[in-house]
Amino acid sequence: MKRDPIVSRPLIKMQRHLRTPVLFSLKIMADKSCSVRKNSVAIDGCTRNEQLLSPVRIGRHVIEDPVLLAPMAGITDAPFRKAVRKFGAGLVVSEMIASQELVTNRFDVRAKAEITSSDGLMSVQIAGREATWMAQAARMAEANGAEIIDINMGCPAKKVTSGYAGSALMRDLDHALTLIDSVVKSVEIPVTLKTRLGWDDAALNAAELAKRAEDAGVQMIAVHGRTRCQFYKGRANWSAVAAAKAAVSIPVIVNGDVTDARSAKEALKLSGADGVMVGRGAQGQPWVVSQIAAELKGQVFQEPSASEKRDLFLEHYSSMLDHYGVELGVRCARKHLGWMLDRRPEAAGTRAKLLRETDPERVVSQIKAVFETTHVAPTREAA
Ligand SMILES: Cc1cc2nc3c(=O)[nH]c(=O)nc-3n(C[C@H](O)[C@H](O)[C@H](O)COP(=O)(O)O)c2cc1C
Repeated sequence: MKRDPIVSRPLIKMQRHLRTPVLFSLKIMADKSCSVRKNSVAIDGCTRNEQLLSPVRIGRHVIEDPVLLAPMAGITDAPFRKAVRKFGAGLVVSEMIASQELVTNRFDVRAKAEITSSDGLMSVQIAGREATWMAQAARMAEANGAEIIDINMGCPAKKVTSGYAGSALMRDLDHALTLIDSVVKSVEIPVTLKTRLGWDDAALNAAELAKRAEDAGVQMIAVHGRTRCQFYKGRANWSAVAAAKAAVSIPVIVNGDVTDARSAKEALKLSGADGVMVGRGAQGQPWVVSQIAAELKGQVFQEPSASEKRDLFLEHYSSMLDHYGVELGVRCARKHLGWMLDRRPEAAGTRAKLLRETDPERVVSQIKAVFETTHVAPTREAA
């Protein structure tokens, strides 16, 4: 599919603006052999016979293992998607893209919609309030190589909901449907929807939205088991997602607080959903999406060794500097380095220094040191 060359220009522009080289190479000898070794034994009580996961179809695409990466603004950029895909995730999604800003050519927003050669099957998530911007944004993403368009009706952030976008659309389903309808009609690729249980406990309308969206042509729905008014507080209510699942015949994906095979299994059981979506659980451990998929199938997933993790984080760091330019890349990478360190409590002593460091060469040395001087702390409970 032909890509819009304009989309890669903003990055170059941004890097020029920051007076950094367009391409920065740290000469990192990343080990590309971080591989998944699978045997078939029971993990967390999941056996092959349980059939917890079956392939789902989204238009012409078949997702063999519907354990999906959740869209996360500021996180699921091209470098992070690449790290997640490396372990075999079947579908990745962009950060939320503001539709009007995409169409009116805001360079940083266009950069977020960029699709890279490492993306594989890629969904671009758009957000907005106006049908005309949403339709145009969807067409642009399609022209640029997106294979699925996802509509955001779940973002709880005030700056989004105050513009009546994101989860605010759950308060006005008639209007939400005009957006869905215009997006579905404007592209040939499948359209999916990501939403929450409702605005608040008094308005749990995910099932109604799901049904109406299905009737309008949406081909998969992900439901975060919280209301907008909960933001990220409390526990996700996986049982409440069952109403949306019962209302439609398209695939429904349960989301919220799925961090490992055990929580995934419980979420699938309680919701009856066809798959799970993992967000914060993938921070600092991009292999976890594939790990959950393997373990739900009763396979052993060999977590990357310390040296494989070191190489993965070095490669991710290098990709971030290439993608954003050095100055911005160094800053954007800090949150990922923080999550990496969170999962290695033995490295707490180096945290402040590493996260303040501005010289990429020294960051690289410190990442290497973290993995040389510490050993892997268990990240998951034993089954
Ligand atoms: C930092 C952050 C950014 C997020 N950005 C988006 C977004 O751009 N689009 C979206 O639909 N949801 C977004 N979400 C919500 C997640 O996709 C997901 O629904 C939520 O985090 C619950 O899943 P989890 O418990 O697995 O993280 C974001 C969440 C976080 C924490």
